[in-house]
Amino acid sequence: MTASSEKPDASLDYLIEPGGRLTGQLRVPGDKSISHRSVMLGALARGQTRVSGLLEGEDVLATLAAFRAMGVQVEGPRDGRLVIHGAGLHGLRPPAVALDMGNSGTAMRLMAGILSGQAFDSVLTGDESLCNRPMGRVAEPLSAMGAHIETAAGGKPPLRIRGGQQLRGIDYHLPVPSAQGKSALLLAGLYADGVTRVSEPAPTRDHTERMLQGFGYAVEVDGGTISLRGGGVLTASAIDVPADISSAAFFLVGAAMTPGSDLVLEHVGVNPTRTGVLNILRAMGATIEVVNERTIGGEPVADLRVTGSRLRGITIAQDQVPLAIDEFPALFIAAACAEGQTRLAGAGELRVKESDRIAVMAEGLKRLGVAAHETPDGIIIQGGSLAASRDGVEVASHGDHRVAMAFAMAALRAGGSIRVRDCRNVATSFPGFVALARRAGLSIRTAGPD
Ligand code: S3P
Repeated sequence: MTASSEKPDASLDYLIEPGGRLTGQLRVPGDKSISHRSVMLGALARGQTRVSGLLEGEDVLATLAAFRAMGVQVEGPRDGRLVIHGAGLHGLRPPAVALDMGNSGTAMRLMAGILSGQAFDSVLTGDESLCNRPMGRVAEPLSAMGAHIETAAGGKPPLRIRGGQQLRGIDYHLPVPSAQGKSALLLAGLYADGVTRVSEPAPTRDHTERMLQGFGYAVEVDGGTISLRGGGVLTASAIDVPADISSAAFFLVGAAMTPGSDLVLEHVGVNPTRTGVLNILRAMGATIEVVNERTIGGEPVADLRVTGSRLRGITIAQDQVPLAIDEFPALFIAAACAEGQTRLAGAGELRVKESDRIAVMAEGLKRLGVAAHETPDGIIIQGGSLAASRDGVEVASHGDHRVAMAFAMAALRAGGSIRVRDCRNVATSFPGFVALARRAGLSIRTAGPD
């Protein structure tokens, strides 16, 4: 066990012994999307915002550090609690340094919207993965609102944002469903003259809209069109962040595909724009009960009970893709363990996440002996059983947190041990994953490189 003694820049592998089942009752960390937004809106509000259940993962800490660098006073985080002394929409101060968003596309894209409306210049940068992700999809519409943003070649970070531009509202049709794109424009719209109107081709997570309303800001939602008028005020609010369904997804998949499992995941956010993973797993034959459903701070929350069953391959419905966009690494493992073929199309966005999740998952699945065929916008997986090599199999996560956790769960159904390389970035979204997975029944430990 070397986890706690690892140097921050040393690589970290997972070693998982095959077999086992998942049982008991657990709560995964707070929702990443809601945590980012609570820090952002809390910083821009008037008054004190108290947050509980905050995800203290590296991505959210990067957002928090950015606001501290812009003069916002924050107490915590401590045990998921944070008190933000809001600076108001016009109270941020010029940062002395470039704002480092680490691994987080959400942080960079949403911050681009906020910073476009400031009186000062700023620079947004990130790690190697983030610096290879497309930012033109926010820089272009923000420029149409009057923002001045320079990107590196190919629309990649860093973003250099010139302050002092008066933004104006636009009508914008998102070319691909993207909650980050939608949110960047709505946040810039807070600073714009007139109405900013964003239409999405399919529903995506609506946490920004809900939280803006929770902070007393008028947002109109009319089918797939969301609009707000600039020049209003955000009023501080209390936020209780539910557990992240995207983190719960690894346990849902692990338990659903492993006979004898019986696991309860507590206090999980079940906003209907996030529950594609439940719909897809159920279509594959999984048994998942949603119990004790309630609404907390404008977001639906429930406990999820999942028991192991035999899964079958399916053609994944198109309308579920944006609703499960972060859960596909885990779902591909479920598909590999299901009987028959699973087909996914219309999911080209997976190629521009923290890694190219279609290519990286196909590569790892092949190492586990699974027939996985990439298509430009999806994958075809022939389910059955995973490799039975007694010597174990090594899989590369390519530094992608969700790929690392997905392959860890694969060991539940593998014939030999699995070593997942380069798992340090799990800390971006799921601090404590190894301990929680072990408590639930996975034989997982960490190790440095050989
Ligand atoms: C997020 C939106 C999603 C998701 C990401 C978080 C958000 O991206 O993949 O992890 O918090 O808005 P897009 O909807 O922009 O594809």
